[in-house]
Amino acid sequence: MQTIAAIEPLRRCLDTWRGQGGRIALVPTMGNLHRGHLQLVEQALALADRVVASLFVNPLQFDRAADLAAYPRTLEADLAALEALGVDLVFCPDAGTVYPRGLEHTTRVEVPGLSDILCGASRPGHFRGVATVVTKLFNLIRPHWAVFGEKDYQQLVLIRRLAEDLNLPIEIVGVPTVREPDGLAMSSRNGYLSQDGRARAPALYETLRFMAAAIRGGARDYAALEREGAERLRAQGLAPDYVSVRRQGDLGPARPDDARLVILAAAWLGKARLIDNLVVNAATLPVAP
Ligand code: PAJ
Repeated sequence: MQTIAAIEPLRRCLDTWRGQGGRIALVPTMGNLHRGHLQLVEQALALADRVVASLFVNPLQFDRAADLAAYPRTLEADLAALEALGVDLVFCPDAGTVYPRGLEHTTRVEVPGLSDILCGASRPGHFRGVATVVTKLFNLIRPHWAVFGEKDYQQLVLIRRLAEDLNLPIEIVGVPTVREPDGLAMSSRNGYLSQDGRARAPALYETLRFMAAAIRGGARDYAALEREGAERLRAQGLAPDYVSVRRQGDLGPARPDDARLVILAAAWLGKARLIDNLVVNAATLPVAP
């Protein structure tokens, strides 16, 4: 496995592989890898001749300096895990390499609409930072496939939109969320949970499952269901940021006749902001005779 931190050697290595006809898959990450990330790598290995993983804690997508400073960094363990799986190249640049002009002066990529709702509403600038760094990684690595987790559903929809709008010849692949045995979605931020918080955290997924079952059972008053979901979270000691039923394709608010839905939620539990989502297909209600 090659570990490269600079742009020129990265380009040289990729040019060589492309010259040999190799098809490349990219897995962008911010490191502190867990089984969720490694599932993306497995998917990439199944698709491509060469797999590139990036490890870069992207300062442009953090809306709070304290959050950036506290973000867990475990480079040695991450490299060992990627090597064991058979990754070909790890790109692990520093911030000066990715943003040589500094964060203030770099060109940004904006995906309007999708950036401002849900997580974007409470994390101003976050998705602009994500869209910018992902576009840069796409341009540097020029993969055939790029693999992302459904865990960050809004991010996945936004990157699909970005690739379509900018006519990027990259197939965006989504991978289902990897969970702990009690249902909690794996996340680098779970490490911020206290023991008590960890015990309460599965309430997030349980609430999504409760709401999905209600929808499958015919509930169509989504505003009422969202209120009930938020109430359930509060009862478990979580502070909901949002609980929302949306359309899968564009994350627009769900209407009663939309079938392909996704329930998304974000909630604070002590110092940790947890997010999760669950897709649900609202079966067409039988028409009254
Ligand atoms: P990060 O949070 O490190 O996540 C990297 C990728 O792993 C994302 O595509 C995310 O959706 C996926 N992932 C995280 N937890 C997962 C889980 N439990 N199951 C399946 N996939 C999971 O997301 C980012 O980094 C950054 O925003 C990035 C795209 C790298 C841009 O900086």
